[in-house]
Amino acid sequence: MSKNNEAWGSRVGLILAMAGNAVGLGNFLRFPVKAVQNGGGAFIIPYLVSFLLMGIPLLWVEWSMGRFGGRHGDHSTPFILDNMTKKKFWKYFGVFGIFTNIGVMAYYTYIESWTLTYSIKSLKGDFLGMDISQVVQTFDNYVDMGSGINLPWLAIAAFLVTLSINIWILSRGLSGGIEKVAKIAMPILIAFGAFLAIMAITLGKGGDCADCNSHIGMGFLWKPQWDTIWSPKVWLEAAGQIFFTLSVGMGTIQCYSSYLKKKDDIALNAMSAGWMNGFVEIVLGASVVIPIAVGYLGLDWVKENANFMMAFKTMPYLFDQWGPVLAVIAGLAWFGLLFFAGITSSLAMGTPWMGFVQDEFKWSRNKSAWTLGLVILFLAMPTILFFEYGVFDEYDYWTGTVSLVVFALAEVILFAWVFGMDKGWKEINYGSDMKVPTAYKFIIKYVTPVFILVIFLASLIQPKNNDWGSLFTSRYELDGGSIIGKILHVGEANTAWMVDGSLTSVFYVDMSRLLLVLTFVGLGLMVRYASKLRQKNAG
Ligand code: PHE
Repeated sequence: MSKNNEAWGSRVGLILAMAGNAVGLGNFLRFPVKAVQNGGGAFIIPYLVSFLLMGIPLLWVEWSMGRFGGRHGDHSTPFILDNMTKKKFWKYFGVFGIFTNIGVMAYYTYIESWTLTYSIKSLKGDFLGMDISQVVQTFDNYVDMGSGINLPWLAIAAFLVTLSINIWILSRGLSGGIEKVAKIAMPILIAFGAFLAIMAITLGKGGDCADCNSHIGMGFLWKPQWDTIWSPKVWLEAAGQIFFTLSVGMGTIQCYSSYLKKKDDIALNAMSAGWMNGFVEIVLGASVVIPIAVGYLGLDWVKENANFMMAFKTMPYLFDQWGPVLAVIAGLAWFGLLFFAGITSSLAMGTPWMGFVQDEFKWSRNKSAWTLGLVILFLAMPTILFFEYGVFDEYDYWTGTVSLVVFALAEVILFAWVFGMDKGWKEINYGSDMKVPTAYKFIIKYVTPVFILVIFLASLIQPKNNDWGSLFTSRYELDGGSIIGKILHVGEANTAWMVDGSLTSVFYVDMSRLLLVLTFVGLGLMVRYASKLRQKNAG
């Protein structure tokens, strides 16, 4: 039995841990791909506006909610929210703050394990001399794409190792585990990123095609363009990226800041971590994959082929163009960087569960950690085994995209309207080392909630082919990628669970949704039970 009395060791440690929480695979894999898919520089303006009007306000809100909850001895979102209001239902919104993390951690740790394997493969020189199709094949074999019923043993083993490392660090606690890792991982990550960015900048013309030049890639990402500024799709994607990359709407920031001391600064700390994440994303994240790929393969190729897997399927081949020594170093820097970025984030995802069971059920740190490991193992297996049926994407969509928006909307309304903006503003400024611009009092109260609400509604009913002009006309058709469209499987040729005696992807997708719903309900019941326990103990 243990009482939860964890704390951060130092301010530097706290900021690095918070920055490590935010800086993740999102910065190096998700951002560049999203930017390319949404017109490069055209993405930057909506991205920055979302950062200023939604990201930063949410950072302040979440940091202060967390510190406020911590003052009452609470370290998980259900009860952090519960403290801020007399109404009992709000704590069930807080379930999102545990659910999202568990769901994301399941598939995130799996990708993290790829980066571990690929670091080792790079170090061993496995990719030396391979042509591009061999590199692609290596990846497909690794995750067992398309080969039927074989189990991807190596991928499973690497996943188990990665998960165990995470659980072990979590069991060492906040200052003894997470903070120590962040202090080592963050500087290395930035050094590796800077090295690769310099390689990309000095690369210039790599391949033979006319637009094969890394500078063209950088120009494409950084030069603001105004032509698609009114495209709602670009705004949706930009806002979604802000959520994911800053880890807002997740519950991890509240959890981390619930371990602050009563008078610790929030305003400046939140800014420092937020801007550090922005730097790593826009400067380093944008300087590696896309420019190097454009340098060898050209902008057109990259525009057509940009996706998340590029980091694994294309990069090792491109590094090989630099000769064996640099190829090994660059491979190690790239996958090592991804591993460090990943682990400082996946550790954050583990903490809401840890805080919850330690607070409510008085479980020891070890028990909290290994139970988390079991839950993640259970939830991750479908994403590993049925990867090619889209289970992985399904998790990413519901837990890594939709949940965040719902939770962020709920918490900002709670903060500004139920708890009250005057009280909220005092919380943000209490003990602070900087003056928060007064405009943000207005922004947090009106602009941020409306912004998030619009994003949510737009994602709910997004029209087919992004034809927003068709809204409210008879021409309107729901897009298969909208939230409602997804639920109803709109636009899919087959919606049956079984065709010719074998199970379809629709079956696997629906089952994974069911599993996620059950996870949410299970956590909700745990919260209900915890709150009963509290009442019993109180009186
Ligand atoms: N922000 C992290 C990234 O960019 C992801 C993350 C999500 C981290 C949720 C913590 C919690 O990859």
